Amino acid sequence: MSTETLNTAKANLPVFGFLKFKDLDLLVPKGKDLMNAILELKKEKNAVILAHYYQPAEIQDIADFLGDSLQLARQAKDTNADMIAFCGVHFMAEAAKILNPAKKVVLPDTMAGCSLADGCSGEGLRKMRKEFPNAIIATYINCNAETKAESDIIVTSSNAEIIINSLPKDRPIIFAPDKNLGKYLMKKTGRDMILWDGSCIVHEAFSMERIAKQLAEHPGAKLIAHPESETAVLELAHFIGSTSALLNYVEKDDCQEFIIATEEGILHEMKKRAPEKTLIPALVFDESCNCSECFYMKRNTLEKLYLCMKYELPEIIIEEELRLKALKPIEAMLELSKTVK
Ligand code: 13P
Ligand code: SF4
Repeated sequence: MSTETLNTAKANLPVFGFLKFKDLDLLVPKGKDLMNAILELKKEKNAVILAHYYQPAEIQDIADFLGDSLQLARQAKDTNADMIAFCGVHFMAEAAKILNPAKKVVLPDTMAGCSLADGCSGEGLRKMRKEFPNAIIATYINCNAETKAESDIIVTSSNAEIIINSLPKDRPIIFAPDKNLGKYLMKKTGRDMILWDGSCIVHEAFSMERIAKQLAEHPGAKLIAHPESETAVLELAHFIGSTSALLNYVEKDDCQEFIIATEEGILHEMKKRAPEKTLIPALVFDESCNCSECFYMKRNTLEKLYLCMKYELPEIIIEEELRLKALKPIEAMLELSKTVK
């Protein structure tokens, strides 16, 4: 286990505060034993492991369900397991708890955050509501429980267009927190929206100039992009879609070569679904780093997954009054997106 992993595991597990790194390391099985130990814990605790497509490959491989944020929310709501080990980021684990409060929800690393969620507070939305009292607040699921509680409806990238189209035409819409997704939705739906000024640090890092060069070097390739990317990148794209829409597109489309402008973790599942196709990660501004990895998503490791399942920590706890307020706009979303897979 790396020192960084040990450090975070220790910070996440206050009960081990008195132990040295060396001691904590001894608590975690190695190699194949670690995988087996996680599977044993799953049985012992009647747990389910839910993982997002951006998770490290080894976590995706051990998960019971792999999905995008909408699919994982549905899985969390309907599970019969006693414990949900949520391998994703904090707002996703929180949504699982909001939807299914009787279950114990644990997250391998509480520091697995999200730049969009961090940049939009409930207080901020309350101010917006005062400024535009007649507006409907539609908020991307990438936000914390307080922000959800101030929203009228939640959307994910896979149902946002349907939901925005269904909102009453005679009322203004505030869309938070992703301005790039918001701009894309304005174009798709023709609805004018008041946009919160937030963005995803991963998708905003894609460079239109470098991607244009990639396209020139691979004339047969199609560029596919997540709508959290900037408009300049989306304008070059042959297809724009949510995480699961991008996966389906690569699998079903006749093209053999794709340049992929979204978080790199998705390539693991894409390669499984379309092993004969060439998948090229889109390039980012910074030539020296691999910035299309979501640093938050990659905080989760198998070791931390093992520790969180074994010691049932860190656990997602939400105060009941807040949970009920946050539940309403999520339920409104689920009701309106029954046709979305
Ligand atoms: P999905 O809703 O497509 O799973 O996306 C979540 C996310 O965090 C994208 O960056
Ligand atoms: Fe948040 Fe972007 Fe990471 Fe998705 S990829 S969890 S939007 S920071």
